[in-house]
Amino acid sequence: MRDSLAGELADVVGRAHVITDRDRLATFETDWTGRFQGTAAMVVRPGSTDEVSGVLTRCKAQGVGVVTQGGNTGLVGGGVPRPDGDAPVVLSTIRLDELGGVDCDAMQVTAGAGVTLAAWQAQARDAGLDAPVDFASRESATIGGAVATNAGGSRVVRFGTMRSQVVGIEAVLADGSVVGSLSGLAKETAGIHWPSLLAGSEGTLAVVAAARLRLVPWYRRTATALVAVDDIAAAVSLLAYVRARLDSLDSIELVLPAAMALVAEHLGADVPVGDSGAYVLVECAAHDDPVDELAAAIESSGAVLDAAVSAEGPRRDHLVAFRDRITESIAAAGVPLKLDVAVPVSRLDELVRRATATVDELGGRLIAFGHLAEGNLHLNVLGAGDAEAITDTVLRTATELGGTISAEHGIGIAKAPWLGLVRSAADLAAARAVRDAFDPQRMLNAGVLET
Ligand code: LAC
Ligand code: ZN
Repeated sequence: MRDSLAGELADVVGRAHVITDRDRLATFETDWTGRFQGTAAMVVRPGSTDEVSGVLTRCKAQGVGVVTQGGNTGLVGGGVPRPDGDAPVVLSTIRLDELGGVDCDAMQVTAGAGVTLAAWQAQARDAGLDAPVDFASRESATIGGAVATNAGGSRVVRFGTMRSQVVGIEAVLADGSVVGSLSGLAKETAGIHWPSLLAGSEGTLAVVAAARLRLVPWYRRTATALVAVDDIAAAVSLLAYVRARLDSLDSIELVLPAAMALVAEHLGADVPVGDSGAYVLVECAAHDDPVDELAAAIESSGAVLDAAVSAEGPRRDHLVAFRDRITESIAAAGVPLKLDVAVPVSRLDELVRRATATVDELGGRLIAFGHLAEGNLHLNVLGAGDAEAITDTVLRTATELGGTISAEHGIGIAKAPWLGLVRSAADLAAARAVRDAFDPQRMLNAGVLET
């Protein structure tokens, strides 16, 4: 069966793009953190939407499931084979890397699912524009993965999540049919809007092959402040203050002391501001140098103990590293339990208090940081004692505080058992009916978003 499918898929994509060699499969079988792992029957790398269609048709005919994988930077086990169940085909989007020319009039570009965030950003900048979404794994994370998970990142406060950037989509259903359009009409009200349906569907309804994406002005002048504040409540006051005053606000991130200490150790550098109960990284970007207005707002906010402010250049890059390289410093310290949650900003301090108590009780070291404006914290636990119990308690806490169990990383397999905390029985039944209509045999990403 495996050999005959490999042969059929080779007819579709070329022999070089069907990988069956066990050594070469390994990197596709384990997620970036090393936490999620399964066995792949093979990896197939289609180079066009037609080839994706051919792959899905062949897999369905043979009853072999498919897991779609972009840059393999996902954090909820959604892009690698499940630890149990039959070995699926991993459909790697890496060859779907075509970037169309930038349409400067429409401020849009068409990108294949396998284009990286960094490539999207670089091409937009070459044309004097910019990509509205950015996060630390930009060099590997792909457009397809970002759309499928409705990724967020640091610029959501200004431009919204990935969903808001998708003005057209081309996707392939489990039966091989191709749906959507890449015409990029910002206004079109003609029934199902494929980008809305598919953004955040985590590869369960279709394989995203390409997207038409919104671009934004490139604000070349940037200013960054790393700010020490008393505590989370002071960070939230600072958020309200700068948000109301700074048109140029581009991102505002929260780093708690344990995360700051870990990244400082990893960088081999001193934290550029004094010890405090919380740190906030504020970034502004504008056509004209925003450094003075940022410094003035920080100064007049009344919330700040100490601050380091810099315009673009090596010093700014140094400040940003204390936020951008946290995930990498956690990975260097061990295999973490990662809980991406959001609560109303007014409940952030309570979330941290309760999560800290949970981890203290159940074992582990809590490293917390995240996106302040969305009340979105990445609660990483190193050396988690009872990972299941910590997950259960923290996700319940976030829900009780009026929040959600996943803000931007998705549900994947990691959080599927807890989906009922934030979705009603009627919601789940309707979602199941939609999935039944698209993919009754669960050929695509079985186990993701559903138990
Ligand atoms: C970040 C990723 C982990 O915010 O979401 O760095
Ligand atoms: Zn994040």
